[in-house]
Amino acid sequence: MEVKEQPITATDVPVTSISQVGTREGQSVTIRGWLYNLRESGKLLFPIFRDGSGIIQGVVPKAAVPLEVFENIKQLTQESAVIVTGKVRADKRAPGGYELDVNDVQVVQRVPEDDPFPISLKEHGVDFLMEHRHLWVRTPRQAAILRTRAEIIKAARDFFDDRGFTLTDPPILTPAACEGTTTLFPVDYFDEQAYLTQSGQLYIEATAMALGKVYSFGPTFRAEKSKTRRHLTEFWMVEPEVAYATLDDLMVLAEEFISFIVARCLERRRADLQVIGRDVSMLESVKAPFPRITYDEAVQILHKGFSEGKLENKFEWGRDFGSPDETYISSQFDRPVMVHRYPAVVKAFYMEPDPQRPELALCVDVLAPEGYGEIIGGSQRMGSYELLLKRIHEHGLPESAFKWYLDLRKYGGVPHAGFGMGIERAVAWICGLEHVRETIPFPRMLHRIYP
Ligand code: 4AD
Ligand code: MG
Repeated sequence: MEVKEQPITATDVPVTSISQVGTREGQSVTIRGWLYNLRESGKLLFPIFRDGSGIIQGVVPKAAVPLEVFENIKQLTQESAVIVTGKVRADKRAPGGYELDVNDVQVVQRVPEDDPFPISLKEHGVDFLMEHRHLWVRTPRQAAILRTRAEIIKAARDFFDDRGFTLTDPPILTPAACEGTTTLFPVDYFDEQAYLTQSGQLYIEATAMALGKVYSFGPTFRAEKSKTRRHLTEFWMVEPEVAYATLDDLMVLAEEFISFIVARCLERRRADLQVIGRDVSMLESVKAPFPRITYDEAVQILHKGFSEGKLENKFEWGRDFGSPDETYISSQFDRPVMVHRYPAVVKAFYMEPDPQRPELALCVDVLAPEGYGEIIGGSQRMGSYELLLKRIHEHGLPESAFKWYLDLRKYGGVPHAGFGMGIERAVAWICGLEHVRETIPFPRMLHRIYP
């Protein structure tokens, strides 16, 4: 939504955001933002301004403005805060299609010459950028990624809101594990042991029994000791949970969900994807239905790859896929692929066994194309009280903390299923980023908690 235009006392000229200057061609406008860059060419200055909504180049011929204004602009330093007035002029060559004939600049805060903005327009190393993440987010590419992230989140919410799902927020402080005990962040909860949640799933299973179709969207935590381009210790997960749904229903939901989000980004964030440098042709084919293969079939693909010399090691049935395995499997398809029915031993305790082959779980992982790996993990949930109790014991989980969860199987238990999608994995894939660290304003990773 556009900010309501308001006259500012200084100039009487309406304040406009850069993304909206096209509606004011030929008129004088005020832009409140920052100096992104300044070029000089003889008697001409080309200051580039940004305001968060976009970037616009100003043109300042020495003869067209009072000498004082010209000198003022000439002295501007990168990232100085400025309020600019000028006339909007269409220019086909300009990045946004418009330029600004500047007639005045009011400096709100000047970045000192001897202590310049640390992130210049030249290349910087990743460590340096991560240390300056609070400033790095101002650069056009990072801003475009953050806008795309916001779009993906909005699309996810719209998808579920428009399909009769109720948003229910699970707790963040929890007494027990959901996704294995090795990645729990402990919290001292008065005299009790608590943990930061790994997933809202167990709690939304309860709300699904109350409301039918629910979802949650919130921060989740994994004390992952792995330093990969796909892992954060704090990430945001959107999780739907549906009463009476089976694994097949879940796969239909997952493919519709992903197709919807990708289509929304192509519709509304094309310009940002271009700034990011994303080849969107790879996204155009992301339409339901997605290919569905069993874990067994995925293993066959890996064995074939190995015998053709495309993979280094022969994959052993019964193991979980590593990221080179996922990359190879997904490289066989032009859209996300759904791999279902993994061996139960590599999956979480709460999954329903396949009645045909109880050693398999009724679960699905959605692997994104182009080597982005697993973006969704989900399953049908275990229905039997006795088997669930047995699994809780087998996984070394404290029965007392799961009493309430077991109740769900005692009081009106029904088949149900759900999945979780990590927002950052989805952003990394849709934006075509090398690493999840750029997908969230302030990433939390192994050895990274500043800024
Ligand atoms: O596969 P996961 O562990 O599944 C669950 O947590 C289920 N309880 C979800 C459910 O059925 N409601 O995680 C789900 C997704 C992954 O597919 C991935 O996208 C993301 O969460 N994810 C991570 N993203 C970033 N960093 C990490 N360390 C992640 N771990 C999982
Ligand atoms: Mg998973």
